[in-house]
Amino acid sequence: MDPALLTPMMQHYVELKRQYPHAILLYRLGDFYEMFFQDAQLVSRELELVLTGREAGAIGRVPMCGIPYHAFDRYAAQLVAKGYALAVCDQMEPADQAKGLVRREVTRVITPGTVIEEELLQARQNNYLAAIVRLRGSKQTVWGLAYADISTGEFWVCQGEGQEQLEQELARLQPAEILLPTEEGLGLGLMRPGDPQAPLGLPGQYTYTLRPAEPFELATARENLLQTYGLRSLEGLGCEGLPLAIRAAGGLLHYLEETQKNLVQPSPQGGHPLLRPPRTYQLTDYLILDTQTRRNLELTQTIREGAFVGSLLWVLDRSRTAMGGRTLRRWLLQPLRDPEQIRLRQDTIQELLESPSLRTRLGSLLDSLYDLERLANRVASGTANPRELVALGSSLGKLPQLAELVAEAQTPLLQSLQQVDPALVDLGHRIEHTLLPSPPPVLTEGGLIRPGVDAELDRLRQQVEQDRHWIAQLEKTERERTGIPTLKVGFNKAFGYYLSISRAKAQQVPKEYIRKQTLTNEERFITPELKEKEARILTAQTEINQREYELFVQLRQEAGSQAAAIRQVAQTLAAVDALFGLAEVAVQQGYTRPVITADRRLIIEEGRHPVVEKSLPQGLFVPNSVRLGSPHGPDLIVLTGPNMSGKSTYLRQIGLIQILAQMGSFVPARRAELGLCDRVFTRIGAVDDLATGQSTFMVEMNETANILNHAGERSLVLLDEIGRGTATFDGLSIAWAVAEYLATQVRARTIFATHYHELNQLETLLPNVANFQVVVKELRDRIIFLHQVQPGGADRSYGIEVGRMAGLPQPVIERAKQVLALVEQHSRIGLGLRSQGKSRPSSNNPKKRFKQESNSRGIPDCDAKAGDQLSLIPTSLYPEEL
Ligand SMILES: Nc1ncnc2c1ncn2[C@@H]1O[C@H](COP(=O)(O)OP(=O)(O)OP(=O)(O)O)[C@@H](O)[C@H]1O
Ligand SMILES: [Mg+2]
Repeated sequence: MDPALLTPMMQHYVELKRQYPHAILLYRLGDFYEMFFQDAQLVSRELELVLTGREAGAIGRVPMCGIPYHAFDRYAAQLVAKGYALAVCDQMEPADQAKGLVRREVTRVITPGTVIEEELLQARQNNYLAAIVRLRGSKQTVWGLAYADISTGEFWVCQGEGQEQLEQELARLQPAEILLPTEEGLGLGLMRPGDPQAPLGLPGQYTYTLRPAEPFELATARENLLQTYGLRSLEGLGCEGLPLAIRAAGGLLHYLEETQKNLVQPSPQGGHPLLRPPRTYQLTDYLILDTQTRRNLELTQTIREGAFVGSLLWVLDRSRTAMGGRTLRRWLLQPLRDPEQIRLRQDTIQELLESPSLRTRLGSLLDSLYDLERLANRVASGTANPRELVALGSSLGKLPQLAELVAEAQTPLLQSLQQVDPALVDLGHRIEHTLLPSPPPVLTEGGLIRPGVDAELDRLRQQVEQDRHWIAQLEKTERERTGIPTLKVGFNKAFGYYLSISRAKAQQVPKEYIRKQTLTNEERFITPELKEKEARILTAQTEINQREYELFVQLRQEAGSQAAAIRQVAQTLAAVDALFGLAEVAVQQGYTRPVITADRRLIIEEGRHPVVEKSLPQGLFVPNSVRLGSPHGPDLIVLTGPNMSGKSTYLRQIGLIQILAQMGSFVPARRAELGLCDRVFTRIGAVDDLATGQSTFMVEMNETANILNHAGERSLVLLDEIGRGTATFDGLSIAWAVAEYLATQVRARTIFATHYHELNQLETLLPNVANFQVVVKELRDRIIFLHQVQPGGADRSYGIEVGRMAGLPQPVIERAKQVLALVEQHSRIGLGLRSQGKSRPSSNNPKKRFKQESNSRGIPDCDAKAGDQLSLIPTSLYPEEL
């Protein structure tokens, strides 16, 4: 576009827009943020706002769309939620003081990952900005990941191998935005979710921002980290030997510098004003839960509706603050593997559990705290509004009370609240003594500062008070002086205060009255004295507002300089709150403290499903036990039982109890001894994944392959009806082979729920497999679900019975029964089973024979002599063909 065709202001706009081509540019003009050209069209469409126009010079009228500045947060939230980035251009000087064109600059770029506005954030969920650097080798991708939440200060780095592991970390974090160094052939810019050009090999559901490669280079990134945190080496951060992690972190910091110009100013204390120094972690520090497992076990949302209600987190989260809620969610998605850390959390829960009075009082104190973690960053970034500062002050003011409350505490976490940083208490007091308790949300209209704080402010206010009083009295004095009883003092926007007199009496007014307006029944006058007072009030009011604003900003800066210390207590409080919530659940739901061991045992006595138990009337849930992990029990349990009997519930409850234990929580069981797991795998139900072009069965097999390839002795594997999605014989064969492989090769602790009753034969063949069944009571005309798990295998599924209960038409039920009888009598599988019964004399116990023949570990190799035994099955299944 030829600049000569544009007014100077529009030239400036176009110039800025060129610098931020991937963001919507919001250009401040007076009380509005205006957008022009395509941005205007886009925003008017997305937000359903009126598209207007503006004269832009010789070019004529151009499209324009505006939002009032005071509604900025609301509209910005909508745009960011849709995955857009916003470049906010503010006026850097008051329009009336500008010589020529008002100076305007882009002060902030808001992108989905760099949001700090309360309206744009979810209270109980982190909002992560991630950065990834990948090195794609011939065999394996090596990657570095950095992620941060600029609303709370969290900052982590990690380096790992394997595309899948990276995707799982992303699935855990659900980053709002992912930064990548641009690669050859790709440009710069932002890709909204679902963009068909999503970066090679990465999931399409995220927002990606492609960045220049330079800040992601090792030397640059390292220098950036060292500089930012005032360090001489990265040794202390633990990432010295992790070049890809460093590169990702450097790219992330650089992005913040560039987009958050006004927020990210060097902090006087050194360090980053918004992010604490990055912490390094490894995937193996934590219990690994893959995406399927998080989904299948419904940790944070239900499978069917994606709802929070009905998830494990719904049962667990009794924390009182949003920061406690966020912490709990993080713990749930990233359970521990370090027994010492688990014990620390358990200790705190136990202390709270054993002291109801401590718990009650702690609960009400926590209730009165605000989200200190986010408030810390609101003050650090200089964006906190008066109400937020008041919330900060009142929360800090509670710290001494908290310290007193935990004075006798025995566990380290609670003890760490005993020492209160006096600077924070001071700050809290100063905020409380400076700010009025319920100030308006805006900064520039006064009403913020208490009397007695500032002498000048008090003087101005007093003067305004006197002048107002004088005006209030004026009606009375002027009535007396003029002898006009109907004289009134009025006010309107157009010309301020005036004296109103009915037209009939207009002749009686004193001569110093100046006529301003004549209405039908009334004449309006002013006097020089009145105008003088009025002007004085107006100037004083402006001065007051200005003074209050200054005092407020000063106080906010003071608070900002303590951000790191606030963040630190906030973190402790968040952890205390999360554990407080877990203690509450433990009390209300009768959870017990599990014993954590280093071996492979998984012993649960009278365990319950935390969510199902909550949704049933009290006492109706039937507890069940389990022993897994040789030598404490079998390694693999084949679980059979009728439809609707409770197999899936049992299987999931074991996984949930293990996860609860490793996140440090108590568990719904009478007693539990649990060896630490490295991973929990699940394969449950059939979910179509049409989006990725995979069939139901293909998804099932993919997930199964993943389990067989990655599970180990330390893993817990939960398989629900493997092989169901294909022809019966294929499915049965696969189920058999998978179970056998898990028991003999992987030796993972496994629960294998199935309707293939043939699998019960594995118990007789393999020493570390046992059969369990969920029993029902069969009456003459119906069955009763007992939901009890017992040793032994079931031989019927009562599927037709369940169909009847579900309301299948009677003729269909009758016909199904006929077909079933025929099938059982004549099918090859039926024949096979019956002939197998004959061919196996009861005296010849195959389990004994198997043990003699197998190798010294008692576990056969797949191709070992045990094959003789395994051949039993194919011959019996396909008797006619062989
Ligand atoms: N231990 C229990 N105590 C009380 N109710 C239970 C218990 N276990 C399961 N139930 C109830 O039974 C219902 C069915 O359980 P579940 O889905 O586990 O059965 P299933 O054996 O897996 O059935 P299917 O073979 O059809 O998949 C649950 O929704 C729950 O309401
Ligand atoms: Mg089931």
